[in-house]
Amino acid sequence: VSLVQRLWKGRVSAGMLSLRLQRAMKEYVNSNKHHVSYKGNRKHAQSAKELLCELKNQARLRTVDGLEQPFSSLGWARLVPSLSLEQLYKKENKRSFKTCAVVTSAGAILRSRLGKEIDAHDAVLRFNAAPTEGYERDVGNKTTIRIINSQWYASPDYNLFGPYMEHRKLHPDQPFYILHPSYVWQLWDVIQGNTEEDIQPNPPSSGFIGILLMMTLCEQVHVYEYIPSMRQTDLCHYHETYYDAACTLGAYHPLLYEKSLIQRINMGPVSDLERKGRVTLPGFSTVNC
Ligand code: C5P
Repeated sequence: VSLVQRLWKGRVSAGMLSLRLQRAMKEYVNSNKHHVSYKGNRKHAQSAKELLCELKNQARLRTVDGLEQPFSSLGWARLVPSLSLEQLYKKENKRSFKTCAVVTSAGAILRSRLGKEIDAHDAVLRFNAAPTEGYERDVGNKTTIRIINSQWYASPDYNLFGPYMEHRKLHPDQPFYILHPSYVWQLWDVIQGNTEEDIQPNPPSSGFIGILLMMTLCEQVHVYEYIPSMRQTDLCHYHETYYDAACTLGAYHPLLYEKSLIQRINMGPVSDLERKGRVTLPGFSTVNC
């Protein structure tokens, strides 16, 4: 049984990774560069419903609002968009989006012919610079929201805030937010709390964050090629010839554990995973806890 087949069942452990990825993962656990120490209780066998309710309660969407230091002194309260992300979309639609698609940039989406299906959603989330032009047949061309890594935006991890201010001044009408670190680390806590092994003490991948974001804004979420289909490949991105299994299985990010958690709340059939790499999730507004 391959690792991907185990993912389809939601049963994975680091021991199933290649030795190279296991070693990379151990180094991240040992170096613990963000000084993470987990103090919560680990709950192993929560049901899908319990897990959904924990996520709904813990993962309260939060963006930098400029009211905290050091941002308040820098005048950010007037710089960040005046409506919160949730207010923005609920105002535009008068309610949540009905159906949403989260499209990862995984190489496995090539030759999927999922474009039309993806574009039929009310809102589509994509990541970083993932292009649609030239790839419409497989990934569609509608984009409603993008999540951009601070590693990617203006390239290094550290030079994020200056460029954000500049961008806000140049494009005041573009709703552009910085996710609050407390949101990101709260998501990490839920992943660790529901995993027996020690996960990488680094933020969850933007894929996981994007899925949870859309569960806040939408009534139903389809995720494409996060849990890989039978087209699974070491090709990192559909738009680049760069091969590394870490893109799909994780080294820095606790990606394998994130994916296992998402499979535990997947409400779609395994045949969707196999053929489309598609997961079906309920929006939080539809889950009664
Ligand atoms: O590589 P990038 O950060 O642009 O990808 C966005 C997200 O898509 C990742 O954070 C990860 O969750 C997911 N991804 C994946 N498998 C890949 C590439 C990306 O699951 N091969």
